[in-house]
Amino acid sequence: MTKTLSRFLYGGDYNPDQWTEETWPEDIKVFKKADLNSATINIFSWAVLEPREGVYDFSKLDKIVQELSDANFDIVMGTATAAMPAWMFKKYPDIARVDYQGRRHVFGQRHNFCPNSKNYQRLDSELVKKLAQHYADNPHIVVWHVNNEYGGNCYCGNCQNAFRDWLRNKYKTLGALNKAWNMNVWSHTIYDWDEIVVPNELGDAWGPESSEAIVAGLSIDYLRFQSESLQNLFKMEKAVIKKYDPETPVTTNFHSLPNKMIDYQKWAKDQDIISYDSYPTYDAPAYKPAFLYDLMRSLKHQPFMLMESAPSQVNWQSYSPLKRPGQMAATELQAVAHGADTVQFFQLKQAVGGSEKFHSAIIAHSQRTDTRVFHELTDLGQKLKQAGSTILGSETKAKVAIIFDWSNFWSYEYVDGISQDLHYVDSILDYYRQFYERNIPTDVISVDDDFSQYDLVVAPVLYMVKTGLADKINAYVKNGGDFVTSYMSGMVNESDNVYLGGYPGPLKDVTGIWVEESDAVVPGHKTYVSLKDQNYEAGLVCDLIHPETAKVLAKYANEFYQGTAAITENQYGQGKAWYVGTKLDHAGLTQLFNHIVLAADIESLVAAGNQLEVTKRITKDGKELYFVLNMSNDERELPEKFAGYQDILTNQPAHKQMKAWDVQVLVK
Ligand code: GLA
Ligand code: ZN
Repeated sequence: MTKTLSRFLYGGDYNPDQWTEETWPEDIKVFKKADLNSATINIFSWAVLEPREGVYDFSKLDKIVQELSDANFDIVMGTATAAMPAWMFKKYPDIARVDYQGRRHVFGQRHNFCPNSKNYQRLDSELVKKLAQHYADNPHIVVWHVNNEYGGNCYCGNCQNAFRDWLRNKYKTLGALNKAWNMNVWSHTIYDWDEIVVPNELGDAWGPESSEAIVAGLSIDYLRFQSESLQNLFKMEKAVIKKYDPETPVTTNFHSLPNKMIDYQKWAKDQDIISYDSYPTYDAPAYKPAFLYDLMRSLKHQPFMLMESAPSQVNWQSYSPLKRPGQMAATELQAVAHGADTVQFFQLKQAVGGSEKFHSAIIAHSQRTDTRVFHELTDLGQKLKQAGSTILGSETKAKVAIIFDWSNFWSYEYVDGISQDLHYVDSILDYYRQFYERNIPTDVISVDDDFSQYDLVVAPVLYMVKTGLADKINAYVKNGGDFVTSYMSGMVNESDNVYLGGYPGPLKDVTGIWVEESDAVVPGHKTYVSLKDQNYEAGLVCDLIHPETAKVLAKYANEFYQGTAAITENQYGQGKAWYVGTKLDHAGLTQLFNHIVLAADIESLVAAGNQLEVTKRITKDGKELYFVLNMSNDERELPEKFAGYQDILTNQPAHKQMKAWDVQVLVK
């Protein structure tokens, strides 16, 4: 049985090997002062642990493990395999990744291993074996943290060979492969497996990596293969750990906005608990991190770990303003509001050298605790100490789901033509925002999730519809589920070949329409949609729609297709399906969703319009926890509904005036 977290972790990445041992006890004292109860260690220590091949030295690690254990810290133990020591590159050059430009990397950086290098795999699993054997029985280790932020594709000879095997296994015959990739175009027919080469910039790709492909079927398969190759590394490390320590949960930290190269939905089943590193940029609207947290929670439909976040500035974004007073706690608690069961930072102690020396920390360069940031960290520590055990393990229930799918992410952004502005995440966010602003709990699910638990499933830009998916959607709507899809949907199959007979291909039935052409909206030109007698701006593309069984909800207001359908609604069995033929502006989409939310009978947690973020988690004993967040620099008022509630962060009655970045977690 895999264990679960026994307390709400408050901590983060600590790199004691960057400091002398004498400083460690003082560091731990300071962490305790801020009510930290956890540290993540050994993330990048490979060069210290294995100074020469096969020679291991765990003495430093033993010492810090002992000191943290004596201080009653929970330890998140890294496997240290993300940054390779210099000797390894010298001895085994094939461990280094070959990039999209065809260049072999040399020693330096991190996260630059070739996932199909047998040498890397061997050295990696040997180190992990030694670590697992050594620490398996340590009760203070509560989570194993494999590698770090997997990502980055390799285009080397090892990968090419492994890719050919992967394809042979997938397609069985060259005939099937040529057909899937439609290789009669540009004389691409393959007559032998070893004629297949990796789709890098020198071959069948152009433009920046993963943004343009000549044979999209090939490039998408390569992304699938690379994601799987890295996943196999994770699985290899996990299997080694489990052999010695079957009960402690194993995770690797997911990251980015979200990471395009890794299909996290495919990876999720191998994670004992999902963990996520969150670094929203200063100009990211609050619904963006909220969306990412909902995506992380929905991967396993379980609480996740907020594995990393910044106490204030980061060093790597173009601009990194200070987090405003109160903003740090609000951004951490936002993750908790959406399902995080930990609050962890990068970094616990600010480095003096290296590229992250200007990344914020619990112990800053001043090494003082009488600072604004430290006071705020201490305040948050006290609140989590107060409320953490109530929050831990509580669940989120959503009646709305938005589909996010990595194969769609890849294929949609590989589209050559129509418009250069096809951005998958942006299109999904337009729709997510509709629910965020209405305080409607929303899951962000994969095409393989069970739809029947939702009243409304929203699938914007569902460009790729793999075999069986349309049947699943049809059955869901027939049985009373409501469904929304949009422009650029139902266009290709899983190999990126177009469905003939009119767009949206296999979604024509459920939507009750067919699309003849799609116009691109060019810069400087305005196209309008008339919805409920009001004009709204249409962007990106405008589908020229023929309604069949669907009724028209909105029409284009100008252009040669003025007066034709822009948005339709179709009754299909017991349910309804809406088709949105253009990228409607926010006001227009809001008007449309006023209608859809009502028709689908979806309830908000509190009436919209208060400009607060409100979520709900339900504790194991059925208590409802309302997270009310003011994610802004302005003052707001608590909705009437919460009068008489109690704030579990402070053990005080709910207060009405919510200052900038104020958060309350309310129970009746
Ligand atoms: C990533 C890494 C950390 C650190 C932080 C800095 O998330 O996992 O090691 O570099 O970024 O923001
Ligand atoms: Zn490789």
